Amino acid sequence: MKIKNIDSIEVLDSRGRPTLCTTVVLDDGCKGTAFVPSGASTGSLEAHELRDNEERYGGLGVQNASENAKKLLEDLDNKRADDQASIDKLLIEIDGTSNKSKIGANAILSVSIACTRAAANSLNLNLYEYLNILYKKQSNLHTEMSMPRPMLNIFNGGSHSNNDVDIQEFMIIPSSDYSFRDGLMNSVSVYTALKRRLSSNGLSVSVGDEGGFSPNLGSTENVLEEIIASIKDAGLKHNKDMFIALDCAATELFDSGIYTLTGENKKMQSDEMVEYIQKLIEKYEITSVEDPFDEKDWKAWQSLTEICKDTQIVGDDIFVTQKDLLNKGITTNAANAILIKPNQVGTITECFETIKLAQENNIKTIISHRSGETEDSFIADLSVAVDAKQIKTGAPARSDRTAKYNRLLMIENELYP
Ligand code: PGA
Ligand code: ZN
Repeated sequence: MKIKNIDSIEVLDSRGRPTLCTTVVLDDGCKGTAFVPSGASTGSLEAHELRDNEERYGGLGVQNASENAKKLLEDLDNKRADDQASIDKLLIEIDGTSNKSKIGANAILSVSIACTRAAANSLNLNLYEYLNILYKKQSNLHTEMSMPRPMLNIFNGGSHSNNDVDIQEFMIIPSSDYSFRDGLMNSVSVYTALKRRLSSNGLSVSVGDEGGFSPNLGSTENVLEEIIASIKDAGLKHNKDMFIALDCAATELFDSGIYTLTGENKKMQSDEMVEYIQKLIEKYEITSVEDPFDEKDWKAWQSLTEICKDTQIVGDDIFVTQKDLLNKGITTNAANAILIKPNQVGTITECFETIKLAQENNIKTIISHRSGETEDSFIADLSVAVDAKQIKTGAPARSDRTAKYNRLLMIENELYP
């Protein structure tokens, strides 16, 4: 299972932007292919996504990154594909920068994941089984595989839509009393009920970047009211069968010390924003809130985590899947959960290190897609393999999102027939 070739081409993501599709070929003829996702509301400390900045594709081309991925063969030729830790270490060393800006985190991640897939294929293992073996080996933890609870983004605002809703994601989470397939089915009922409600009110049912509906509803509370009514319309009970979560992506709402919610005409200082979020949590019994504050507003994070002890407070832009930032979050009690996005850090090994740190410190983990996705369902296997317990991968609609849910249905069928 030695690496013999690396090919990489420019393909398109779900927003019609270029991204990488990289294939690693082994000497036994086995192959692994990986596609790289891309975010819109990115954290400033994410690993660097290398774009060409030339005229093609409005500067978003990734031809240089794809050339860089192919060139990595010079160093990876003849290396064992199942030695993921050494491969990733080498990739980090070859790049040599702190944020993978020389070769590009997109190029590096595509090779890292393609190696994982090639090794799993060569060993004739399912990707999730191979990832579980790899994770246990690298983390020294006795991790049992499990099906995650999905967090489905059924209403899109913020940077994922051009509507007047400021909060980026309104999610539903089926109860853990249900199997994955039944929880997904219930979620589809709510999604469909929401579509019916919006439609009958003469509102648009076209969707945002992650497949959630995105009409102009103005305030956050209007959207929450519609979702709660949709849960009821679907014959389900809020906070029994179905729970509600938000991703505020608040770094996008923050400028010069002020949070601005245009949809509801509000300008708030940090402490007022803490109060605003706390009230939403209490009034609508919200069980999980991601990025409620700017990535640098650590004090607000600490306040909310202290006040809302029973709510999952999730760090995305603030931690960007990096263990040093998560470490700071643990020592300062800034959050009690972390979003894991492989392209924020750039290699599988670093992703594993962050997940391990979270699991050892009682920080909940959510494996996540990006708003710009592809048909690659790697994160579905990853969520099962590391016992993440939660996955966030958009609405139950659009094949870039359903690819992950469908993959999880296949895995569930194999693990729990
Ligand atoms: P992004 O959004 O992929 O545009 O960053 C997803 C998120 O913020 O969780
Ligand atoms: Zn987020």
